[in-house]
Amino acid sequence: MQQKVILLTGASSGIGRETAIRLARQGHHVYGAARRLQLLQSLQAQGVHPLQLDVTDPSSCAAAVQAVVSAEGRIDVLVNNAGYGHFGAVEDVPLSEARRQLEVNLFGLACLTRLVLPHMRHQHSGRIINTSSIGGHFTSYLGAWYHVSKYAVEAFSDALRMELRPHGIHVVLIEPSSIRTPWGEIAAQHLEEVAQPASPASPSSSSSPSSSVPLVPFLLARFHRAPPFPPLPLPPLTVTPVPTSTRAGAPPPSSAASGAPA
Ligand SMILES: NC(=O)c1ccc[n+]([C@@H]2O[C@H](COP(=O)([O-])OP(=O)(O)OC[C@H]3O[C@@H](n4cnc5c(N)ncnc54)[C@H](OP(=O)(O)O)[C@@H]3O)[C@@H](O)[C@H]2O)c1
Repeated sequence: MQQKVILLTGASSGIGRETAIRLARQGHHVYGAARRLQLLQSLQAQGVHPLQLDVTDPSSCAAAVQAVVSAEGRIDVLVNNAGYGHFGAVEDVPLSEARRQLEVNLFGLACLTRLVLPHMRHQHSGRIINTSSIGGHFTSYLGAWYHVSKYAVEAFSDALRMELRPHGIHVVLIEPSSIRTPWGEIAAQHLEEVAQPASPASPSSSSSPSSSVPLVPFLLARFHRAPPFPPLPLPPLTVTPVPTSTRAGAPPPSSAASGAPA
């Protein structure tokens, strides 16, 4: 098997850490990147080169890609794995946090992709592997911004695949289901932060979080146990069929007969 030069984000924990170790064992030149350098140092003994990286910082992204290319002269694979889940009711999650969710899960991935592309196009080869989620296909309670980010990764990757096919660069989507990692704890932490009940000193009831609904403790318990997308004990939704005569494009309810204005 040909040895590949691989830059893998989110290598300090969970899926990324295990993947980095496994790829290094297979003989690939793996550069494992994340913010927590002390966690990455322990990967060195497993043959992974640690790289400090904050995917929300364009200069940090540029330095990481440059470090790989300077050391190896090429970059064959980018694994965009860094990510987290910010859960909470839309009304409660500040837009600054929503933007941060997209900065990490979407724009960080896009930033690194744009930086590796000139090298991959020059090589006429490469592979970009983006970690989405089954949550890139369906939406769960209180997960608006996480799912927005993963749906966006799906669309971004599908478009990129078309663009890059003529250059011999492949784009792959990974859509994990529930995997036991610190992801659940981090999602629970964010949910707890935004779902705090209003303090007694809070004068206005309108400032009380809308998400203080029975779902929050339920979701928290499930996050702490790891699966991010639990089945919820809710009654099934009842959908009232729309009469065909009122659907868009359908003729109005026999106005001539009723005498109502068109
Ligand atoms: N676990 C699951 O069940 C599951 C299911 C579907 C999809 N996923 C996706 O799989 C990916 C990996 O998740 P995981 O379960 O392995 O979670 P994890 O154990 O919490 O790992 C997340 C990784 O992302 C890195 N990261 C977070 N923010 C970063 C930033 N600003 N810059 C650079 N790195 C950053 C973290 O490193 P630092 O904090 O050190 O920077 C960490 O290494 C994520 O994209 C997640 O959404 C997970």
